[in-house]
Amino acid sequence: MPEILIINGPNLNLLGKREPEIYGHETLEDVVALCRDAADDGFSVAQFQSNHEGEIIDRIHAARGTTCGIVINPGAFTHTSIAILDALNAYDAPVMEVHISQVHKRESFRHHSYVSHRADGILVGLGIEGYVAATRRICQLAG
Ligand code: DQA
Repeated sequence: MPEILIINGPNLNLLGKREPEIYGHETLEDVVALCRDAADDGFSVAQFQSNHEGEIIDRIHAARGTTCGIVINPGAFTHTSIAILDALNAYDAPVMEVHISQVHKRESFRHHSYVSHRADGILVGLGIEGYVAATRRICQLAG
C-alpha cells in the first residue's frame, strides 16, 4: 500500500502546549489522526517527528523508494536548513510544505523557506488543516 510520510521538525512535539495562541490546542497525535482520515482509501500514513536536523535528513533518505509523498513541517529548520532541502531534492515523489502559522505575517526571519525551493505545494496559515489539505494533495498527485 502506498505510504504518505508526515514529517515534523523541532518543537512540534510540543504542539498543543507550545504557544497555543499561535499554534492552537491540537496535538501532533490529533494531526496524524486527521491526516489518516483525510488520506484516500488505499493509502497509509506514517509519521516522524524529530528535534534533530540529521535525523530528519536520515528519515527523508529512508523514504526514498518506500513512500509516495512527504508532508513536511520543518519548523525552524525551514528557515535555516540547506541540508534538508538537499535531502528533499534527492527524494523523487511529491513534497508538500506545511506551516501552521502565517509565517509571512510574523518576524522577517520566518519569511524565507529553503524547503519551498523543492516543495510541490505550500500550505501556510491554515492551522492544522494545512496538513489535511497537503495529505489530500499527495493522494491526488500520487494516485
Ligand atoms: C512553523 C513556523 C516556523 O517559523 C516555526 O519555527 C515553527 C513552526 C509553523 O508551523 O508555523 O516551529 O513551521
